[in-house]
Amino acid sequence: MGAPSNVGPHIVEWVREIAAMTQPKNIHWCDGSEAEDQAMRALIVDSGAAVRLNPDKRPNSILVRSDVRDVARVEQRTFICSRRESDAGPTNNWMEPSVMKVKLKGLYSGCMRGRTLYVVPFCMGPLGSPIAQYGIEISDSPYVVANMRIMTRMGAKVFDFIGQDGFYVKCLHSVGHPLAEGEKDVAWPCNPENTYITHFPEERTIMSFGSGYGGNALLGKKCFALRIASAMAAEEGWMAEHMLILGVEDPKGRKNYVTAAFPSACGKTNFAMLIPPAALREAGWKVTCVGDDIAWIKPGPDGHLRAINPEAGFFGVAPGTSYDSNPMAMESCRKDCIFTTVALTDDGDVWWEGMSKDPPAHLVDWTGKDWTPETKGADGKPKVAAHANARFTAPAANCPIIDPDWENPAGVEISAMIFGGRRATTMPLVFQAFDWVHGVYIGATVGSEMTAAAAGTIGQVRRDPMAMLPFVGYHMADYFGHWLSMRRNIKYLPRVFHVNWFRKDADGKFLWPGFGENMRVLKWVFERCNGAATGRETAIGWIPEYTSIDWSGMDFSRDQWNAAMNIDREEWHKELVLQDELFFKLYSHLPKELVFQRELLLARL
Ligand code: OXD
Ligand code: MN
Repeated sequence: MGAPSNVGPHIVEWVREIAAMTQPKNIHWCDGSEAEDQAMRALIVDSGAAVRLNPDKRPNSILVRSDVRDVARVEQRTFICSRRESDAGPTNNWMEPSVMKVKLKGLYSGCMRGRTLYVVPFCMGPLGSPIAQYGIEISDSPYVVANMRIMTRMGAKVFDFIGQDGFYVKCLHSVGHPLAEGEKDVAWPCNPENTYITHFPEERTIMSFGSGYGGNALLGKKCFALRIASAMAAEEGWMAEHMLILGVEDPKGRKNYVTAAFPSACGKTNFAMLIPPAALREAGWKVTCVGDDIAWIKPGPDGHLRAINPEAGFFGVAPGTSYDSNPMAMESCRKDCIFTTVALTDDGDVWWEGMSKDPPAHLVDWTGKDWTPETKGADGKPKVAAHANARFTAPAANCPIIDPDWENPAGVEISAMIFGGRRATTMPLVFQAFDWVHGVYIGATVGSEMTAAAAGTIGQVRRDPMAMLPFVGYHMADYFGHWLSMRRNIKYLPRVFHVNWFRKDADGKFLWPGFGENMRVLKWVFERCNGAATGRETAIGWIPEYTSIDWSGMDFSRDQWNAAMNIDREEWHKELVLQDELFFKLYSHLPKELVFQRELLLARL
């Protein structure tokens, strides 16, 4: 098999088995070296899928264009194949493992013909950390290899850590596009008709077929670090969460770490890399970033929760990212990046909607076609130059405000957890849970309002519990039970908060400016954790008074504050009714504590 000498026999055996099934032309054991990375990038460029960017503008970076049918995670094709259907629960697609395996075996048979099988050893988290986990991804995509090198600790030394018989998560991936003898490859091979993203939580394995994009293909991320890891964590007493991690430091140098969970499109990366407003910066407040997407959290020996970012890079949504909205993300992708489905400028740089106020006069769009601001789509509407889900893959080490402890194997101590959704109504800017169980209830009922609500009326709410709806690898209600049970393992429970940056007034205007100003809310959170700020008790939780917020350098009147913080009893009644949909769906496994929390809230209201 040509395996390096430090590869355990159990790994060689697995690779042999997969190679016999998939019939690749070659096998390549990835070492994670710079030379290997350059070779992967050259392969992607030579295939026609990518162009090298101008090294004066974006050193060591490429722009990749995927097939137009392969541009995002495919939740409808994502399955949790637990032995019992009730273990996957009503929020996941389920298929019986043996039935799924028969289907997959048919698809994987010979699927790597004409291609190279890459063996990608990787570690989620700092190598050797007691919170980290190892995985091996077999893939036939050089794009996957190059991305995994940024997103994980990838390389030959991982084999030493797994050892001769150590545990690792098996991740099998194929683009599902075999090549017949002499057949010319396409630039972005994929197989959208037969795409399956499947998870076998009991076996701790992942099998992904047919897509080369993002979370479908970079299996360390959503598939391992959330779906498989959440199932492992529930058994082993830790937590795998869809949460960013940030550090807050006050002018005296006291530091706290906070995790935060937000559904997609709520500015998670912006919050993870927040720049405090000038007045607070000058006073000495600092924010640092540990991670922008996923947190693995374990009770530490001292009774505090400790968290690591299992990833080593950012796979961020590009559109909307600019030096105004997120300068640190822009700095993170200055060099050594892979850009996917963004637009190309005439001087060999990248562009996407929202990067600058005025678009360049000419671009090559994400599909490889000429584009000008006047370009219209088939529907006659202006056409975007970058796909709405275009991404940058950037090394976390590029981020100027990366936390000095972001690779600390012991993790960072977590003082607070924040939940938030995109709510046009009902939810005030910030409130604090009364205790852990109340906090779990708040996290479990997170949602975003989908329809633009008419003035003053609550819109349709898409519940996204703990922002984990597509990412829990088992029954959602059992996951709530796991959250509740964690209180028995933790001596010092983090404080739990809910924020809403997106509330609107009757005219549809946002009541809060968001972005850097969110630091004012974060400062109150920090002070609550350190017993330094007061809160007022309300029916829904503790809230800050107007005077508890630091307004230095900002004009925000008491009336504006009252509007952003208003607790409207009628809206809350509707909110509680709307929560029925989630609670009824999960009822058979729903912990009674959450039912009682809802009752208590109703009584307080
Ligand atoms: C992501 C997501 O890509 O949550 O991080 O969808
Ligand atoms: Mn995410």
